[in-house]
Amino acid sequence: MLDPTGRVALVSGASRGIGRAIVERLLARGFHVSAGVRTPGAMPAHERLLVERYDAESETAPAAWVAASIARFGRIDCLVNAAGISTPRTPLDDTDETGLDAMWRINVKGPLRMIRAALPHLRASGTGRVINIASLSGKRVANANFGYAISKFALIALTQATRREGWESGIRATSLCPGFVATDMTAYVADVPRAKMTDPADLAVLAETLLLLPNTATIGEVLVNWRLEPLL
Ligand SMILES: NC(=O)c1ccc[n+]([C@@H]2O[C@H](COP(=O)([O-])OP(=O)(O)OC[C@H]3O[C@@H](n4cnc5c(N)ncnc54)[C@H](OP(=O)(O)O)[C@@H]3O)[C@@H](O)[C@H]2O)c1
Repeated sequence: MLDPTGRVALVSGASRGIGRAIVERLLARGFHVSAGVRTPGAMPAHERLLVERYDAESETAPAAWVAASIARFGRIDCLVNAAGISTPRTPLDDTDETGLDAMWRINVKGPLRMIRAALPHLRASGTGRVINIASLSGKRVANANFGYAISKFALIALTQATRREGWESGIRATSLCPGFVATDMTAYVADVPRAKMTDPADLAVLAETLLLLPNTATIGEVLVNWRLEPLL
């Protein structure tokens, strides 16, 4: 395993939910963390934490966030793309494509732009790591929100492209694919008790492990389910 001391991780969607749990876990394990949030000021201060403004819909935010991270820490070893949305719902027969377009911008183009901006630094690291928080909705379509599934299938393709592009310079990329996680995103789910859903803190343990496995132990996808499904 790699030594977390001195490793620098950028985490988007750091204000809440899965991204926030990953930030807390990485700080506790000795990483330096650069947290991307839409509203800086909401994160508690920590000596190894930088908080920067990041909106996934902005074309300029990735370069600015990467530059600020380099200015503070001098290197980038890990990128975790956790920012994402699942609403407005996107049923197949809905001719209003507003939700579909928003998911494409935030769930796919956001991570793509972050990977592009961080790539030179991830290459320079020699052990660069990218985790895209995809979903089991990126592996199969199990509900009516098909636009969300499309965006997560695409995100998994982006993970594969990143692994291919970065392989020779030591970059390893993983799609972390959970089912229901007990965060704000699943607050609408009335028929599953919160305690039965995956705990974001457990995903944070998996993320930490993925960021510390050596180049010789790459894991392309991690599927995490809270319930029994035939193939997942
Ligand atoms: N919860 C689940 O069941 C589940 C399952 C599978 C996959 N996922 C995926 O896991 C990731 C995290 O989800 P979560 O459960 O932690 O959701 P969450 O609790 O709703 O948090 C979403 C996070 O994304 C950020 N965000 C949303 N739109 C953004 C934008 N335009 N620019 C920058 N940040 C933005 C939010 O920031 P603000 O605080 O500023 O709104 C927040 O930090 C998402 O990609 C989601 O699709 C979740």
